[in-house]
Amino acid sequence: MTGADRGLGFAVVKELLKNDFCVFAGKFMSDYTLLEELQKEEPNLHLVELDVQNPEHMKAAAEEIERISGKLDLLVSNAAIMSVRTEKPSDIIDGNRGLDLPLLVRFFMTNSYAAPLLVDTLLPLLRKGEMKRLFFTSSEISSVRLQRRNGGMRYGMTKTALNLGVRMMYNTLRPEGFTFRLYQPGWMKHQFPDGSLAESAIVDPADSAKEAVRQMLEDRMDEDRLVLVDYLGRELSF
Ligand SMILES: NC(=O)c1ccc[n+]([C@@H]2O[C@H](COP(=O)([O-])OP(=O)(O)OC[C@H]3O[C@@H](n4cnc5c(N)ncnc54)[C@H](OP(=O)(O)O)[C@@H]3O)[C@@H](O)[C@H]2O)c1
Repeated sequence: MTGADRGLGFAVVKELLKNDFCVFAGKFMSDYTLLEELQKEEPNLHLVELDVQNPEHMKAAAEEIERISGKLDLLVSNAAIMSVRTEKPSDIIDGNRGLDLPLLVRFFMTNSYAAPLLVDTLLPLLRKGEMKRLFFTSSEISSVRLQRRNGGMRYGMTKTALNLGVRMMYNTLRPEGFTFRLYQPGWMKHQFPDGSLAESAIVDPADSAKEAVRQMLEDRMDEDRLVLVDYLGRELSF
């Protein structure tokens, strides 16, 4: 599970523990200790340092999973950078501000390329797992068909690229029996270090996580179709 420090990732960790999973949670943020607090009462929760821009962290996580459980049933790829504070808009095409290339690369590495990199690193463990299920947090903003916004395009482009990466992994791994989930979690409230939620936005990450885990655990009749499903169970165009 990547990006588990707060928000949807943290809530999914709690849901999976409730469902008796042994969970390896990717720790990235030093200023959040919600995972450490939870670990005090959850022997099935293991924390692994996981910056998804760092392939060495991925290899170390794989070794830890191998050591403790010897297999991986379900991979949840959730980490993403959504926005960053910059002095000037750096991803808007207007011909005079200049795009911030290093920032674009950072977004793409984290939000798009990390997922296939992690699947590749963990594949030997996933092949030994019973579920063989791969879950990716995407967004409705990724949809080429539905996109009508103008302005900053950095985040949306990275989620579109994620979807395409998932499609390619699906084409490659579905014949081996792997099943895939692409999830749109809704406009979620930000979670602060003390666990409280911001007023803005509409969806509580805990509610979205319940639905996400339901989708992770259900067996669908139509596994030979790759679909993007939202937090209300609706299939979206992408
Ligand atoms: N919130 C929404 O309304 C919304 C809507 C649609 C889709 N989503 C997607 O839902 C997922 C979870 O969103 P959320 O609201 O729970 O967001 P969040 O609270 O920001 O959670 C994402 C986590 O990923 C972490 N992360 C960033 N770079 C990372 C890296 N290199 N390695 C490991 N972790 C890294 C973030 O840390 P930093 O904050 O330090 O970067 C953050 O802790 C994301 O994939 C997001 O794109 C969210």
